[in-house]
This record gives sequence, C-alpha cells and structure tokens, in this order.
Amino acid sequence: MNHITLAENTYLVGKNDTREVPFHRLILAKGTTYNAYLLKTEKPTLIDTVDMEFGREFVEHLSELIDPTELHYIVINHTEPDHSGGMAALAGRATNAIIVCTEPAVGELKEMYKMHNREFLVVKDGDTLDIGGKTLLFKETPYLHTEETMITYCVEDKILFPCDIFSTHVANTEIFADQAGFDITDDFIGYYNAIIHPHRRYVRTLINALEGLDVQMIAPSHGYILRDEIQKYIGLYATMSADNVNDKKVTIVYTTIRSNTKKVANHLQRIFEENNIQATVFNADKCEKSDILASIKEADAVFIGSSTKYADMIGNLEEVLKDLVEMDLEGKIGAAFGSYGWSGEAIEVIQDYLMQTNMNVQSTSHVIKTTGMTHVEFPVRVRFSPKDEQLKKIEHSATFVADLLLSAV
Ligand code: FEO
Repeated sequence: MNHITLAENTYLVGKNDTREVPFHRLILAKGTTYNAYLLKTEKPTLIDTVDMEFGREFVEHLSELIDPTELHYIVINHTEPDHSGGMAALAGRATNAIIVCTEPAVGELKEMYKMHNREFLVVKDGDTLDIGGKTLLFKETPYLHTEETMITYCVEDKILFPCDIFSTHVANTEIFADQAGFDITDDFIGYYNAIIHPHRRYVRTLINALEGLDVQMIAPSHGYILRDEIQKYIGLYATMSADNVNDKKVTIVYTTIRSNTKKVANHLQRIFEENNIQATVFNADKCEKSDILASIKEADAVFIGSSTKYADMIGNLEEVLKDLVEMDLEGKIGAAFGSYGWSGEAIEVIQDYLMQTNMNVQSTSHVIKTTGMTHVEFPVRVRFSPKDEQLKKIEHSATFVADLLLSAV
C-alpha cells in the first residue's frame, strides 16, 4: 500500500497488486494497481477504493492517514468491484460518509455492499461539490466503460481522477509515468485497446468533457499517474477512437408478411447511413437472387431477416441462406433479425444458417463476453411493429456493428 502526496492534502492511497490477475478474459502479465485518492480537506473526501480482496488492508492503511469516521464524502466514479470493492470493509467504518455517485450507480452500490440505508448524493454532468478548501467537478462518462461511470476533477489541484480511463495495467512501483524508466505508451495503448476501445463511441463525449479543463495531472485508478505530456495521452484517446476512412458496405436482406420486418430493415439502413456507411436493402421476394448474392460478396456486414409464419421463415429467403453456407464469407460480420408475433422461430433459424457460414456472426453472448455491454442484442428480435424501445434496440445493434466496421484499431 502506498500513500504518496500528489498536491497539498491530496494523497494516493492505493494498492499495488503484483499477481498476474485474471481480468476481462486477460491475464494481466504485469499485474495492476488499484489507485484511490484521499483529499484531506475540511470535508475529507475519498475518491474510489480498491479491489474487494484488499478491502481490510486498505481500511487499515487509510486509517494511518485519517480516522474513517472523519470521511465526509466517498466518491465512487465506477462501481466495478476492483474500485468500489473496498466499500465492503469501509462502509461500516466510514459511518458518517455520504456516497457521491451517478444515478445508475446508486442501486448497484446499495445491492453490492448492503448500503440501503446510507445517504447518497447523486451528481449529474457538470455538478460541483465544495469539500471545504477544494472543489470537485463531476462529468458523466457513460459506457466508459459501464453505464454509471463518471470522472472527477479537482479544480484547485487541476487533477483529473478518471478511474479506469487513461489507466495502465502495470503494478508500478514508480508512481509517475515520467519516473518509469521506459516509455509507457505501449502499456497505455494496450489498456485502451482491451478496456476502452469497444466503447470508443463514448470517448468523444469524454474528449468534449475535457475541453476547457486545465488538467495538469491525470490520476487514474490503474497504473501510472500522468503529469507530463497530458495532451499527448488525451490525444491518443482521440486518435485511437476516431473512425477509419470509410468505404464500408452493409447488405440487408429480408422477407416480410405485413411490412414489420421491412421496417426493421429500413431502420437498420437508416442507422448505418447516419454513420456514413453505405447500406443496401433487398426484399428477397422481389429481387433477383443473383443481385443479392453479388451485393453480399462485396459487403463488409450482412443482416438477414424474416417475419415468422408457422414457426419458420417466409418467402425466398431460405434459398439465399443455402447459397450463403456454400460461399466464402470470411472477414464479414453477420447478423440475423426479424419481426414476430409469438415466438420468432424464423430469426433463430436464420441465426443457425449464419452460424454455418464462416462469417463473424454476432450474438448477445459474444457481445457480453467481449465488451460487457448488456444493451446490445443479437439476433435483433422485434415484436410486431417496431416502435419506441424496439427502435432503440435496433439502433444499439446497428451502431455496434457500425462501430466494428469503423474501428480504427
Ligand atoms: Fe478497473 Fe472497470 O474496472
């Protein structure tokens, strides 16, 4: 455990974890750290905690700097247990602390740490908090990398506390990147690719949030603290999250009974076009199969959809799917969709066909395993005519594929 002074009355109180920790399907070969920060002001404030495994050790260590009952606020930027986990040991000791977090974090923290009776202060984007001698500014950064995430900026210290963002997975003994003795850029980029890039669309929100802030130090919750070349590291996030030069194409093929699946197809097309991706739509019952297959050959992503009738697909779609199974479609993204009234079997039959191809077929399971996103669903299943929440669902799925196509990495 370290406690290092970053500014007057501002301390790093983290845990260095040298184990090769399993994390997001990776083994952290260089270990990691869990950086928390204590601002010992008139209203003493803790920003984030450490991994649950080190909670008791953390509380003992923190107690060397402050009696936990004196903590006035505990800011939780991100609820994942490698940062909020210390609350399991700390909540019962820091009995006077108000928990500061975003709205979506409240329910999660209450459930995770049995804090149903604790006082919470919900902050919104741009809110400030006077902690007696210093001022904290909060910016919401949803989906970087989970819904409830926010970043905290100390106005007087000019220090940004972004939790996971701008982190490195290194169990560093030298606290600052400029003391590492080597260029940490590869570790910084490796972390970005593993944790942040799947959510790169939201990095633009972050970059906008940072505009106008005089950031002199970035104190993340894993690895090195950055105090030199701040703009270089922010610029790397901006560059790595940018869209590729775009010549991508999507082919959408459907059959429909009452135009509901057609509406899904058209909404998919609209979302791709809003992302400046060319999307071509075919009704398999009205177009030549040869034209459809030629378009699919040229496409980077293929969406296939049908209404369900008598628990099966309708029209000519199966003839197209039989041909797809015989084609070399390597490197393309595949996805199934459809509107249905009862069970939507056709959508699952299409998914089975797609799984027989050598496309990268999207599934909800794969999305969760690779990105942690629970709001993106594949196949895209829409009950009756798509509206409201279902249009949003289509949008999430199309945007996810657009992001894969436009990904700069
Ligand atoms: Fe470092 Fe999302 O936890």
